[in-house]
Amino acid sequence: MNDARHVGGPGLLDVRIAHKTYRSASGQTLEVLRDVTLAVSIGQVGVLVGPSGCGKTTMLRIIAGLDTDFAGTLRAPQRGKLAMVFQEPRLLPWRTVEDNVRLVAPDFPEQKLAALFETLELAPHRFHYPGELSLGLARRVALARALAVEPELLLLDEPLVSLDAAMAARLRDELAMLIDSRRITTLLVTHDLDDAVRMADRLFLLSARPARMLAELHIGTPRSRRDAAELAAVKAEVARRMAMAPR
Ligand SMILES: Nc1ncnc2c1ncn2[C@@H]1O[C@H](COP(=O)(O)OP(=O)(O)OP(=O)(O)O)[C@@H](O)[C@H]1O
Ligand SMILES: [Mg+2]
Repeated sequence: MNDARHVGGPGLLDVRIAHKTYRSASGQTLEVLRDVTLAVSIGQVGVLVGPSGCGKTTMLRIIAGLDTDFAGTLRAPQRGKLAMVFQEPRLLPWRTVEDNVRLVAPDFPEQKLAALFETLELAPHRFHYPGELSLGLARRVALARALAVEPELLLLDEPLVSLDAAMAARLRDELAMLIDSRRITTLLVTHDLDDAVRMADRLFLLSARPARMLAELHIGTPRSRRDAAELAAVKAEVARRMAMAPR
């Protein structure tokens, strides 16, 4: 089945998935998504939170155009202006860190590349090969590769795991600044509620598989102005909504 419609829009994301089912080689079907609708405006960050295996990566793959076998409609920016950081770093092992990035962004100016490597604390690893990197470093290279594309739409699948807490917090704040300064429409998947409430303009809470939308929270305060009390209140609300979810 393939009734997906791709309509180019200026940095706006609008996803309506009626259902998505996988079929195994033995013919069994697995329903993964059911009636999931979400929209993210230009320059805003949508965050997807939901139990492991509920269908978050499946949803990002559909939005990225990597999986067109679903029932529903999709409005996303034109191809080429979209970047995705996969759950696994997926670097080419025979290319250096710099060449992994340059491959997708050959025209990215050297000055900007140096600044990006500096921000992501990758400068000392520029000429290393992926096999010489820790998983946390490899994840940062994947992030650099996505940002070097200067995307209109950025899809991030748990980009901050495998990093120590201090580094994850630093990178999250850098990412928030880049997203705000470049007005990148972003969809982030995370299991970390702290990251979710700090990053999200819209927070989408998904149920267990088949994923349905349990709740959508709108956080109106700009990321840079959220104080501890507001973050705690939103987190408590998320926990309350998750607890109310049918098992
Ligand atoms: N290509 C596939 N073929 C068959 N089943 C699949 C395929 N990809 C994913 N699944 C199944 O679909 C369900 C959703 O998978 P998905 O990777 O989207 O979950 P997720 O929410 O990203 O989980 P996690 O938080 O663990 O990353 C899982 O049960 C998974 O086993
Ligand atoms: Mg996943």
